[in-house]
Amino acid sequence: MKISVIGCGYLGAVHAAAMASLGHEVTGVDVDTAKVEALTSGRPPFFEPGLSELLVKAQERGKLEFTTDVSRAADATVHFVCVGTPQKPGEFAADVTYVDAAVESLHPHLTATSVVVGKSTVPVGTAERLAGVIADTGAAMMWNPEFLREGHAVEDTLHPNRLVYGVADGEPGQAAAATLDEVYASILVEDTPRMITDFATAELVKTAANSFLATKISFINAMAELCEASGADVTQLADAIGMDDRIGRKFLNAGLGFGGGCLPKDIRAFMARAGELGADQAVAFLKEIDSINMRRRVRMVDIARDALGGSFIGKKITILGAAFKPDSDDVRDSPALAVARLIATQGGLVTVTDPQAIDNAKKSFPELNYVADTAEAITGAEAVLLLTEWREYRDLDPAATAELVRGKVLVDGRNVLTPELWRAAGWTYRALGRP
Ligand code: UGA
Repeated sequence: MKISVIGCGYLGAVHAAAMASLGHEVTGVDVDTAKVEALTSGRPPFFEPGLSELLVKAQERGKLEFTTDVSRAADATVHFVCVGTPQKPGEFAADVTYVDAAVESLHPHLTATSVVVGKSTVPVGTAERLAGVIADTGAAMMWNPEFLREGHAVEDTLHPNRLVYGVADGEPGQAAAATLDEVYASILVEDTPRMITDFATAELVKTAANSFLATKISFINAMAELCEASGADVTQLADAIGMDDRIGRKFLNAGLGFGGGCLPKDIRAFMARAGELGADQAVAFLKEIDSINMRRRVRMVDIARDALGGSFIGKKITILGAAFKPDSDDVRDSPALAVARLIATQGGLVTVTDPQAIDNAKKSFPELNYVADTAEAITGAEAVLLLTEWREYRDLDPAATAELVRGKVLVDGRNVLTPELWRAAGWTYRALGRP
């Protein structure tokens, strides 16, 4: 099938490459010339394992092109809208202007056989509104939320754990769903569950899922606060409650909390939208979820300062990790960088290292010092803070690392190291939610 993907960021670039790998003819459209050029040469403008290979293969087979010219998407049957919906500056609400602009740009090219499939995370009510915008063309509107995780985006797109189709009532909705079934035929043969809902439910599924994940993380981080107050160990607590399969162990990793381009802005946009709908009380708890999350950053700084005897001034602090999570170079709302900046403003001499995210981090926080090589970054440190749990940092050897530093102080912001091993090598080991 001929497909277009409007917006080639984390979501769209992966979706375009994945759809081409399923055998479709895909045109990826983006307003950013540099991004289009990079994708055309098989170099994703961000780090995502497996994506470059997929891009190169699809383009060699002539199945995938990237362009800034939306008219090249005119003959596509299905148009996926994959643009970003960032938080509006100075408020909680999501900025949907890119979604509106994408649909406007498609409008002149739509016909009665076209299907516009929204994938962006949007405030509930957006699909209904956009269906009205394109109604005069006879094209169908659908909402098909995306649940991919950065770092696992290719796998999550090609083997999703469910597909959700938000459709219009009656025959037009059924026809659009049948078209999307054709697009996803090779995913559906794997017995992937597929649910057909109305627009509002499909939009809410995405927001509710991310809110639940954020809640799970903040729940365990609230328990970490209690563990700190009582001398208990949150990692054992998480293991023990997680063995109840009604609770589950996943997303109960206590530490510095959540960041990135999705969970923080999605819970805020949800609160804003619920307020507009007169249902603000229903999600008022998300404000608490947000504050528990933000408190972890401050607590991390307090623990590190305390471990250094009460002051950062003039001390070299090495921060392991700048990305908001491992296997990503995304630094949007990165907890690690937030901590780095707080320590720098309190007089610490901060050096940040990361396997992939240094270039992006430099753009956001040029005032910090960046060193690519881990050993070089650690050399001479008076405290080492592990803030993003890249494999390389989890595998650090306590004895070898001790040779490099000036002060053997290690703060494990992600609870991924074995305290006994570090203490045995002479380190002062501190963590969030652990004695
Ligand atoms: C999240 C969701 O997991 C995806 O399902 C969703 O599609 C995506 O947002 C989106 O809306 O596009 P992502 O932002 O890639 O995916 O990252 P997650 O893997 O969810 O991690 C989010 C943050 O939570 C990271 O900072 C991570 O370090 C933190 N986290 C995660 C914890 O602190 N503890 C945990 O147990 C798990």
